[in-house]
Amino acid sequence: MVPEDPNFGILFKSVPKELEAPIETNIQGSVPKWLTGSLLRNGPGKFEVGEEKYKHWFDGLALMHKFSFREGKVFYQNRFLRSDAYKKACKYNKIILSEFGTLGVPDPCRTIFERFVTRFIPLNITDNNLINFFRMNLLYTLGLATASAHAQKDRDGITYNIGTTYIGGSSYNIIKFTPGKTDDPSKSAETLCSIPARSLTRPSYYHSFGMTDNYFVFLEQTLYCNVSKLAMSAILKIPVCHCLEYEPEDESFFHVIEKKTGKITTIKYRTVALFGMHVVNSYEEDGHIVFDLCCYDDDSILNKFYLEYLRNGDKTGSRSFPRPELRRFVLPLNVNELVKVDLPTKKCKTWYEKFCYPSEPNFIERPNSTEEDDGIIMSTVINTAKQNSFLLILDAKSFEEIGRAEIPEDVHYPMTFHGEYIG
Ligand SMILES: [Fe+2]
Repeated sequence: MVPEDPNFGILFKSVPKELEAPIETNIQGSVPKWLTGSLLRNGPGKFEVGEEKYKHWFDGLALMHKFSFREGKVFYQNRFLRSDAYKKACKYNKIILSEFGTLGVPDPCRTIFERFVTRFIPLNITDNNLINFFRMNLLYTLGLATASAHAQKDRDGITYNIGTTYIGGSSYNIIKFTPGKTDDPSKSAETLCSIPARSLTRPSYYHSFGMTDNYFVFLEQTLYCNVSKLAMSAILKIPVCHCLEYEPEDESFFHVIEKKTGKITTIKYRTVALFGMHVVNSYEEDGHIVFDLCCYDDDSILNKFYLEYLRNGDKTGSRSFPRPELRRFVLPLNVNELVKVDLPTKKCKTWYEKFCYPSEPNFIERPNSTEEDDGIIMSTVINTAKQNSFLLILDAKSFEEIGRAEIPEDVHYPMTFHGEYIG
């Protein structure tokens, strides 16, 4: 439930007229004089076109907002994005392009043949960029049908984003924009890597992705976009949101990609079905990627964003929204390592050597020990590069190596499952 506010619907009202010229705002308190740039915001600004109304919060025509800072003063202006969705809406005084939750009517200017094609290929899908302002012709330059709302800018000024292509089976593509490479920033875009979707006809829906110093993290979650349905959406007369399918029984997958090379790491990490939009944090720590995501148990939040519900609530006039949850996922970068985790402090100690595969570790208490980690850890390790094996002995407290017992090289030691120390 949200606190009852009789004016909650104001949040979803249209802006009647754009402010082309900046207006000075009234300052209470003070604004730092060192602020000399501009804050750009975007979002929906117009929910009605002529007699027609958009249905979903994600549908309204995109309005760009600009706050400019000059010597402690703040100026505000706004402008509707001149997208095809906007231009056609103005020209015909109707909703022409389909949005997330609203179906457009076929463009009256198209020939009968073009309208027929449009029914099978959803050409009337929107370019109304109210979610992001990353307006480049990626569809034509790189074959992308979508791009995430949250591009990531690296310390070196390179910007990355991720987009889906449906051509030749769906895949997620990490796109790299290098500043200064060409005069036209959209021409500097290149595909760094292409991750095939688990289902070629049902790629996952996503809103953001994670970036660390050395990796990208992409979560392939269990809300899917049915591409066949999307292709038929005009003929089926359904908006984009009806092409999304949530699978509560499926598993979500994390894909980890090397930033430098674009190589997809071979390790796949799985978790339960979930729906998330915003990556809160992603960074590397002690050989792990920490990935924090604002999650929901399912996609039902999207249905709560219909304007009718947002403005008026249910039959009784009340509104309730599923609560998001911040979930932390810790992804080990080396799966062939031994890890000691202190559960109360969540601190880790690890042992790792390249090409070395340790077995299940065994803890052996020191006689007359007084603390829980007073003793040693033993693990048998196979080194695939040197093609030899050894018994590794670690101090259980510090996780430092005490010694190793190497098996002679002419003796083959295969992988083992379990073991027990008998004193
Ligand atoms: Fe967002």
